[in-house]
Amino acid sequence: MTTRRLGPDDEKASVRLGAEAFGERPPSATPSGPADADQPARTWPPEGVVALGTFDDDDDAGILVAKLNGRPYDSWFHGSRVPTFGIAGVTVAAERRGEGLLSPLMDEILAEARRQGAAISTLFPTAPGIYRRFGYELVAELTTVSVPTAALQRLGRADGIRTRRATEGDFDAVRRCYDRWGAQRNGPLTRDGVMFPADAAEWLGGFTGVTLAVDADDTVQGFLSWRRGPGYGPDARIAAEDLVWSTGAARDALLSTLGSFAAVTPTTHLESSGTAELELALPVTATSPVERSPYMLRLLDVPAAFGAVRPASGVTGSLVFSVVGDVHGGTDGTYRLDVDGGEVRCEPTDGEATTAFSPRGLALLWSGALPHGRIVAEGLARTRGGDEDLWDALGLGRPLHIRDYF
Ligand SMILES: CC(C)(COP(=O)(O)OP(=O)(O)OC[C@H]1O[C@@H](n2cnc3c(N)ncnc32)[C@H](O)[C@@H]1OP(=O)(O)O)[C@@H](O)C(=O)NCCC(=O)NCCS
Repeated sequence: MTTRRLGPDDEKASVRLGAEAFGERPPSATPSGPADADQPARTWPPEGVVALGTFDDDDDAGILVAKLNGRPYDSWFHGSRVPTFGIAGVTVAAERRGEGLLSPLMDEILAEARRQGAAISTLFPTAPGIYRRFGYELVAELTTVSVPTAALQRLGRADGIRTRRATEGDFDAVRRCYDRWGAQRNGPLTRDGVMFPADAAEWLGGFTGVTLAVDADDTVQGFLSWRRGPGYGPDARIAAEDLVWSTGAARDALLSTLGSFAAVTPTTHLESSGTAELELALPVTATSPVERSPYMLRLLDVPAAFGAVRPASGVTGSLVFSVVGDVHGGTDGTYRLDVDGGEVRCEPTDGEATTAFSPRGLALLWSGALPHGRIVAEGLARTRGGDEDLWDALGLGRPLHIRDYF
């Protein structure tokens, strides 16, 4: 077996193996049109993507038997931008599953992620059981939520907030609004990498409309990117692919814009993360998840990940903890965490740890998905006690929110 990076000559084999596992991709919604001389030539793998494959050397044709890919992003966690390596497209050929082909591929992609400076790695699993032995744990999900459009009609419009259609000139203000929204949550991607539209025309072109909620100074307080489905009968739908807000008043104004479609699209689909944030806004509990994409996370660089944490300035103290059992990610060791003045410093130490985390336990703790006491209770960390109050005082728990699939 040989594992190596895939290049343009491997595109066909890689796409075929991917289609076997995940199904054929629907034809692109964008018409191909004549080639634009100003557009860079299409490359494979796409810019920034590291594609790895395993070939069976016993087979004369050198058949591709397993593959995956990874790409660098940044995520908002603890109010900071955290370098993140996203993994996707994991496939082993049907006849070769169960032979252990996945581990060397995962080891290689995790090593590449560390070389690129990622502090964490994330992925959308088809089954969490595949990735737990690689140190990942479920921390959140991307959720498509269905709401009766009529329920959104009841939301009031606050004084001082109005809605208007976005134009290309609003692109930067919308990005600033997204950053304010993301920084208050754990998990959203920062949307400044190659995967996201870099210019306003491309961004607006992806939707039927982008509606802004602006205040009296025309400052963007929220935006709604929506796509109108076909027809206007009982089955017609409108999809809110993005709903982002700085204030509850802006959110309500945008939801009531969706509500104004009640006569023509009885159902609204909203991209969210769980249902809690929508339930806070809606006067009804009639929300039902129609699609769920769970999201897993693991740490790759423990000092860098904890360096992103911003506790309240009055919190001071030190913690010594260890990571044990990280066979694939290279984080095993003992670390010291010093907390002072609203900052955290974390570095390797040879001190004695009070809590020993499994990689999965550490992922749950750092992401804010579960507090220290629960992780110990779940058997994902062992503790000698005495450090729980300071772990809790770090303030790791913000609402977890995932909005972009990869
Ligand atoms: C997922 C896949 C890549 C795993 O490859 P594989 O060769 O079967 O992997 P292994 O036999 O080495 O199994 C790896 C581990 O994952 C677990 N696993 C594999 N498939 C699983 C599933 N569907 N549900 C839960 N656990 C699963 C195995 O139990 C094993 O765990 P263990 O060692 O703790 O017992 C392969 O089954 C595949 O291509 N499936 C279709 C595509 C897919 O789902 N890809 C994942 C995208 S996120």
